[in-house]
Amino acid sequence: MQQLIDNFDRKFEYLRLSITDECNFKCNYCLPDGYQRTHQKQFLSQIEIKNLVNAFAELGTKKVRITGGEPSLRKDFSAIISTISKTKGIQKVATTSNGFSLQKQAKDWFDAGLDAINVSVDSLDPKMFHLITGKNIFDKVMQGVSAAVAVGFTQVKINSVLMKGLNDTNLNLYLAWIQDKPIQLRFIELMQTEDNLEFFNKHHLSGELIKQNLLKNGWTQKMGLCHDGPAQVFTHSDYQGEIGLIMPYSKDFCKSCNRLRVSSLGRLHLCLFGEEGVDLRDLLSSADDKEALKARILTALSNKKESHYLQQGNVGGTPHLASIGG
Ligand code: 5AD
Ligand code: SF4
Repeated sequence: MQQLIDNFDRKFEYLRLSITDECNFKCNYCLPDGYQRTHQKQFLSQIEIKNLVNAFAELGTKKVRITGGEPSLRKDFSAIISTISKTKGIQKVATTSNGFSLQKQAKDWFDAGLDAINVSVDSLDPKMFHLITGKNIFDKVMQGVSAAVAVGFTQVKINSVLMKGLNDTNLNLYLAWIQDKPIQLRFIELMQTEDNLEFFNKHHLSGELIKQNLLKNGWTQKMGLCHDGPAQVFTHSDYQGEIGLIMPYSKDFCKSCNRLRVSSLGRLHLCLFGEEGVDLRDLLSSADDKEALKARILTALSNKKESHYLQQGNVGGTPHLASIGG
């Protein structure tokens, strides 16, 4: 079988597929003024998604994460989950959501075949949550998290972007929260994008500091877990939950890169940063174009660079992560 392997011997079995760039939150690091609808965009249709995922699956993709914007803003979200989960070769379908409709829809998504869900909870303090996301709905999101566990999801992860002067004081709250819950809490280091430079300079907190703090307090790093991709995972015997650190600025972050991305308009992105992507859309509407599509993906991958150049402040063309799904 053909496989997606690049020139640096990295294997890509994980696709992050954005199905919309719209979002109903206003996270201050992402869309501080909210989503701006400039013109009517035609996001990938269900047929296009089906053809796309099928081609990736034939190239060895085993896991698909559906992202946005906020993916659940699509009315056909459950149908999309179902289409992807039925694709031959796809073993795992996940999503990342802001949790807005989780409470209502967790069961539908579970029944449609969703295996895992990451919910963004940027603070455990309702006021801080409101300040960061622009939405005063902390309780609703947390009820959504409980609902997800209750309907049967065994893999619920929480994402939080820890920021200096905002939610960095929440670290202990978070730790106490996962003491008796089998939840993986993922701290994502704030990334600079085209739109958030000033904000980034003010609030960026090095993940390395959090790591040192954890190590000092008895947490130990799990070794060699390839399926976690670039996340570093920590456990502690007193805690049921675990911590994942995503530190895009750390040396070697890109060595364990295991994912490719496709935007909601059908562009293949080899990296979050620093490239404009390869358009696949003309090959998505007909299943007859499958071989041409696979060939285009393989050619694109041969140009994947070894690393991003974030350290040098190169955010190359990524206005905010809602545009490409994080
Ligand atoms: N830096 C770090 N994480 C970000 N996310 C969105 N924008 C950024 C950024 N600039 C996160 C969200 C969500 C995930 C999809 O990406 O908080 O958890
Ligand atoms: Fe929406 Fe996610 Fe961006 Fe927040 S980080 S505004 S939830 S896309």
